[in-house]
Amino acid sequence: MDLPFDGAISAFFETGISAEIRNEIRRADKGDILGHDFPYSERMPRKAYEKELEKLQIELVKLQAWTRESGARIVCVFEGRDAAGKGGTIKRFRENLNPRGARVVALPKPSDTEATQWYFQRYIDHLPGGGEIVFFDRSWYNRGVVEKVFGFCTDDQREHFFAQVPDFERMLVDEGIYLFKFWLNVGRAEQLRRFLAREGDPLKQWKLSWIDVEGLKKWEAYSAAIPETLTRSHSDHAPWTVIRADDKRRARLAAIRSVLTSIDYARKDARAIGALDPAIAAGPEIWNG
Ligand code: ADP
Ligand code: AMP
Ligand code: MLT
Repeated sequence: MDLPFDGAISAFFETGISAEIRNEIRRADKGDILGHDFPYSERMPRKAYEKELEKLQIELVKLQAWTRESGARIVCVFEGRDAAGKGGTIKRFRENLNPRGARVVALPKPSDTEATQWYFQRYIDHLPGGGEIVFFDRSWYNRGVVEKVFGFCTDDQREHFFAQVPDFERMLVDEGIYLFKFWLNVGRAEQLRRFLAREGDPLKQWKLSWIDVEGLKKWEAYSAAIPETLTRSHSDHAPWTVIRADDKRRARLAAIRSVLTSIDYARKDARAIGALDPAIAAGPEIWNG
């Protein structure tokens, strides 16, 4: 099979990063957490993860039932660098839900027409109706990060975005929409390890794009755009939850738990939800990149 980015990731691995990171990735066992600032040295064991996930997914089913009964509207925004685990986390949220009331919105780059519209306009079309939970796999925050890093918007457009985003989100929240904003924080070594795995797996290659390949060289530009975006768009009405995502399992549980904890749905079992781990999910202050 001819692969669109055949070898581009391995080539970067050999020549584009420090020997320190390269060796760290080479030496790591499958269960090791890469990087030095993660609060745990190994990822969560599979059995424990599956047990917790099942309990949380049962609660999600109740959350969806309540959402439909009450006509509530829920928006979960997932952001993070490429390969941070956005898609995988959304998949775990939706695994046992009725897909009709639990939509994913993963918009492509704006069309020529959309590019002339108000920046938020095309996202508004996808907001939930009563009874729906909508998962945004990337969102209007493209303007804060990827569009800045790749020069897809002007600095003026980006400033305009930062000026409008608090009011935009204020309107959603005033409307009664439950709004969650998750930033999945993945370290450099772990991101590269995931890219290498994608490159080597024909079933995961669809997740690779030229943005990912080019983005590898832009780590530092991302590292400037991300904290600026988080800080400028963190508000009381629409706070960010930053999740340390080098361990996918802990990250998924943390995201689900944080939604379940925040909503008073019917038949809620607080004991099944358990406690949030503040070392895994907290505010923008735990972002580091
Ligand atoms: P993903 O990681 O979501 O699978 P990519 O890494 O290819 O997708 O792209 C990252 C984001 O950048 C996507 O949301 C995509 O729509 C956006 N994007 C790509 N090209 C452009 C462009 N020319 N202008 C604006 N946004 C773009
Ligand atoms: P470190 O993990 O020591 O590199 O810390 C990076 C950032 O994360 C710092 O701002 C810390 O204050 C923050 N941080 C580290 N551990 C925790 C934790 N358990 N809970 C909340 N924040 C943390
Ligand atoms: C994921 O890991 O699902 C993502 O964050 C998608 C991506 O590679 O950009």
